[in-house]
Amino acid sequence: MNNIILRPLFLRPVKSSKNVALKSFKYSTSSYVNSDGASTPALAPNSSPLATLTVSGKQFESDSYTNISEGIIKRMPRKLHQQKNHPINLIKERIVSYFYKKFVGRTGNPVFSVYDNLDPIVTTHQNFDALLVPRNHVSRQKSDSYYLNSKYMLRAHTTAHQSDLISSGLDNFLIIGDVYRRDTVDSTHYPIFHQCDAVRLQTQHELFPEEWDLKVFEKRPDKRTDDKQAEHTVDAVRILSYQLKTTLQDLAKTLFGPDVEYRWVEAYFPFTHPSWELEIKHKGEWLELLGCGIMEHAIVAKAGAGDRIGWAFGLGLERVAMRVYDIPDIRLFWSTDRAFLQQFAVDDPFTAVKYKPVSVYPICVNDISFWIPPHGDFSQNDFFDIVRTVGGDMIEEVSLVDQFVHPKKRLTSHCYRITYRHMERTLTKTEVNAVHNEIGRRATEVLGVSVRMT
Ligand code: PHE
Repeated sequence: MNNIILRPLFLRPVKSSKNVALKSFKYSTSSYVNSDGASTPALAPNSSPLATLTVSGKQFESDSYTNISEGIIKRMPRKLHQQKNHPINLIKERIVSYFYKKFVGRTGNPVFSVYDNLDPIVTTHQNFDALLVPRNHVSRQKSDSYYLNSKYMLRAHTTAHQSDLISSGLDNFLIIGDVYRRDTVDSTHYPIFHQCDAVRLQTQHELFPEEWDLKVFEKRPDKRTDDKQAEHTVDAVRILSYQLKTTLQDLAKTLFGPDVEYRWVEAYFPFTHPSWELEIKHKGEWLELLGCGIMEHAIVAKAGAGDRIGWAFGLGLERVAMRVYDIPDIRLFWSTDRAFLQQFAVDDPFTAVKYKPVSVYPICVNDISFWIPPHGDFSQNDFFDIVRTVGGDMIEEVSLVDQFVHPKKRLTSHCYRITYRHMERTLTKTEVNAVHNEIGRRATEVLGVSVRMT
């Protein structure tokens, strides 16, 4: 398996070569993006003619941004991170226990508080603006996130809650929750996954003992460089990044064992500077585990903690769980099969468990080719969403296997190979064909493609 790379939400200016394929994939569909970064209003898969939609018991006016699908709404209540003994819950418990032990106050109490039940419906302000994500940043595209309308969306990262929690007076916290992104379809991508974010803020006096005579903030903002923000001193950034990196290295050792190989890679996030990614070696490949950095002072100050400097990180729980337990396919986390869930029925979250495949059912492969609309705003993620909505968890992978432009008609043809496999039973050819035809029908109706007979 060589495509165990999840698409990063925030693209770095400089990429390691392994991510190039993903990045170009992402940009290959970006021709429908306006220069201001907003996607042209494409008809969303499943966009219903109804003006209001109900999600988690709340009503939202739909508009040209609405693109949330039934399949997603149906899965929102599952909250895998809160299900006792679910592998995602066990990884969450491991992380929380690490933070509880590592950071204790004067009286031996944990310093970090944990928020794992915040509503995944957030405003675009929370998800982007409050985190200084530029107005034309690619992550705002309609093709990448689930929008309820132009104001509300399903959070694309748990970082969306960071400034609200700081505003409420917290200095040390973990946010754990389900996050939502429209994406490719294969064994490591699922439109819902889980993240854990952390924030740790410290004051001058907490960071530097009086007698050291070192300062957190410059008297007057200095120049912003590659190494630090204008407001921070070199000393403060040095000590904070040391704390951050050792904390995360130790977390990686706690999760993957003391011998885990790791390396730090420079990164870019709109809400931290400097920023890094921690990669770990897994089965001979470097795998991006988390993003982190020194929090942008403007965010911290706006949230009312301008006298503090902080670090933050965000990490994907499925990624960790797949490696820790040897789980080969991300869809398995959604299985309700007892034979799967029982393997994780352990009292101590640190118990070593290796997943044993219950059985592997055969695949069924079908291709679909179509002309994409000549003047439209076709995005591959719109198509992937239709495939997922119609096929649910019987879809294992969708890949673009052929693409060409008709020289005379000037039309573009895409051919996608859809791999069907159920995790819990053998699929019949008839049911696969029915789903496959329905995918073609919906793609025609919603995306305006014309299916080619092959
Ligand atoms: N939110 C980022 C992501 O999802 C991760 C991150 C969180 C990076 C906090 C830095 C600080 O990719």
